[in-house]
Parts: sequence; structure tokens; C-alpha cells
Amino acid sequence: MSIDHPAEAGRPEATVDASTVVLGVETSCDETAVACVRGGSDVLSSVVSSQVDLHARYGGVVPEIASRAHNELIIPVLARALLEAGLDGEDVDAVAATTGPGLIGALLVGVSAAKALALAWDVPFVAVNHLEAHLYAGFLEDPDLQFPLVVLLVSGGHTLLVHVEGHGRYRLLGQTLDDAAGEAFDKVARFLGLGYPGGPAIDSVSMTGDAEAIAFPRSMIDDGLDFSFSGLKTAVVNHVRAHPEVATEDVAASFQAAAVDVLVAKARRAAAATGARALALGGGVAANSMLREQFLGACAEDGLHAFLPSREMCTDNAAMIASTGWYRLQRQGPTPLDCGADPNERLTSS
Ligand code: KG4
Ligand code: ZN
Repeated sequence: MSIDHPAEAGRPEATVDASTVVLGVETSCDETAVACVRGGSDVLSSVVSSQVDLHARYGGVVPEIASRAHNELIIPVLARALLEAGLDGEDVDAVAATTGPGLIGALLVGVSAAKALALAWDVPFVAVNHLEAHLYAGFLEDPDLQFPLVVLLVSGGHTLLVHVEGHGRYRLLGQTLDDAAGEAFDKVARFLGLGYPGGPAIDSVSMTGDAEAIAFPRSMIDDGLDFSFSGLKTAVVNHVRAHPEVATEDVAASFQAAAVDVLVAKARRAAAATGARALALGGGVAANSMLREQFLGACAEDGLHAFLPSREMCTDNAAMIASTGWYRLQRQGPTPLDCGADPNERLTSS
């Protein structure tokens, strides 16, 4: 189908329906991703090219390397996403891209490419907030997801508890006061010599460790809906320095247990405080095996409907951008092409 307004229009009436194909572009950090999604939830293709190998030897993402790699990868990734979807440019009805938050140089590559495509194909451009996209990842696999619900969003840069009252209606319930959960996993993994990215490394090493070997602190577990992870990271460092002979598997498993206990306890409290009947997980840390298991157990105990996206949908991808773009286009119409990218873009209701 076609949308009866050009890319440069402000906020015209848009006809966005189940047949509308949105091409999503994601370049906010170290994944170059393009996806085609029809009707907000039918994923026709989702191509993710990870730059992990390029950054691994530096122990973290190097922004300049990320931007250059996005530049090289964006066209081949786009070509593959169209090919896998069996689409040509003229089959795409709108182009969505992450405009923030993220690394500014990396964001600009995806935003510029998406705007160029929107112009060339004469279709609307839609700006998408990366955090909102993580919230929407659940819809891709469960379009019947019901509001209101509480989402625990745990990624490399953010740890948020959000009350989603309806499409585009968000209330921030709690957030981290220092490190994000993923940042804590990455820093602890680096300290333990487990490499980068740290989350998956800790997840797999922990399988052979004893989660009760060391009683690391559960910071602020009985205290409100905000989080703090920097004390836990320091406790790990202090423990290993005091006990150099300690088994790395036990440290990793005990650290993971402490982090997961706090995340799950706060998510439950948030659901109780808001009266929400459903809890959802999102963001890269939601790929963690122990968190997934405990999250499902807690939801079952509390009689809450649990939404747990697949691991591919938890970590950065462009299908969630295209899906969010579809809902945004339906609510607000296209984004003017003079919009920029914002490394600190916040999650706001719209
Ligand atoms: O959402 P994401 O892909 O990118 C950001 O928007 O930040 O999240 C990346 C974060 C990293 O900190 C990574 O270590 C963490 O998610 N992560 C995990 C796991 N897989 C990825 N943390 C714990 N366990 C995992 N299995
Ligand atoms: Zn992310």
C-alpha cells in the first residue's frame, strides 16, 4: 500500500494499516541493523551485523570505530534486509530510524541513511526513540500484549522501570542512580578477565559456578523502585582482591545472582504498586538466562502475565525500530526531515 503524503510533509493524515511496510534502521551503538516489518508486528526480515569483534580488543565500544563500521556496513545490511524480505524499494511505505539515545556519530549514520532512503523512495521518515523501541520489542512476538503493563528495561546504557499505560504513554517508575545493569555486567566481566561483551560471558561462566558462594550486596533491594549497581561492582572487586584464589565461576555466578535478585524484586514491587497485571522484560540484559528464569517464576507466583521477548528481540535490532515506527506513524504521522539525532534523547510520552 502507499501512504498518501510525501516525506517532507509535517503531520498529515496518514493511512497506516496492516499492510503498511516500515523499513527500520538501527545504528545507535555497535550493531548495524536493518529490518522490514509489515503492520507493526509481521517481521519480513531482520538483519543484524554485530561489530563485537572490532571492539573486543579494546574491551568496550570505541565510538569512532563504530561510526566508521556503520558507514561501511549500512548499505550491505540494507541490501540483505530487502532481499530477505523479498522487497524492492517501491514496496517500502515508510522508513524509521533510531534518533537517540546512543553514540552521536553512530546515530548520524543511520539517521542520514534513513532520511536519504525516505527522500529517494518518496515515503515518510519516522524518528524512533531507542528506549521506546526496546519497550515495543514485546509486540513483535505478542501483538496481543495488553495495557497497562510494567516493563523492566535493562540494557548497556539504561535500567528503567516504566509503567506503559497505552501506546506512547509512559510513566517512569524507577531508574538506576549510577551504573546501568548491563554496564555492571560488562565492568565485572572485564575485571574478571572474561572479555567483551561482558553480559553473555558472565551468563555462560555462571552456569558452572555456585551462585551462593559469595553473599554480594543486594543494593537498595527493600528501598523504592530505583536501582544502584556500582556498590555491587565494587564489592566484587574488593572480594577478589581479598581472596585471589577464589574461583572466577563462583564470583560471576554470585554477582549475577545479586544483580538478578534486585532486578526481579523491584519489577515485582513496581507491578504491585501500579496494580499492573502484566510484566515485560526488555533490553540486552533481558537475554540473561538467570534473569529470564527468575522473572518467569516471579510472574507465575504473583499471578502476573509475563512477556518475555526472545533473546534476539532483547538485544539491539532493527525490527523493534520498524515496529515502533509503525505505531508512531499511526499516532503522529511522519517526522520532519530536519530533525536531528540526540545522544541523550529521553523516553517521553507522545
Ligand atoms: O540493549 P543492548 O543490546 O544495547 C544497549 O542498548 O545498551 O544491551 C547491551 C547490554 C550489554 O551490557 C551486554 O553485556 C548485555 O546487554 N547483555 C547481557 C546478556 N546479553 C547481553 N547481560 C547479561 N546476560 C546476557 N546474556
Ligand atoms: Zn539497546
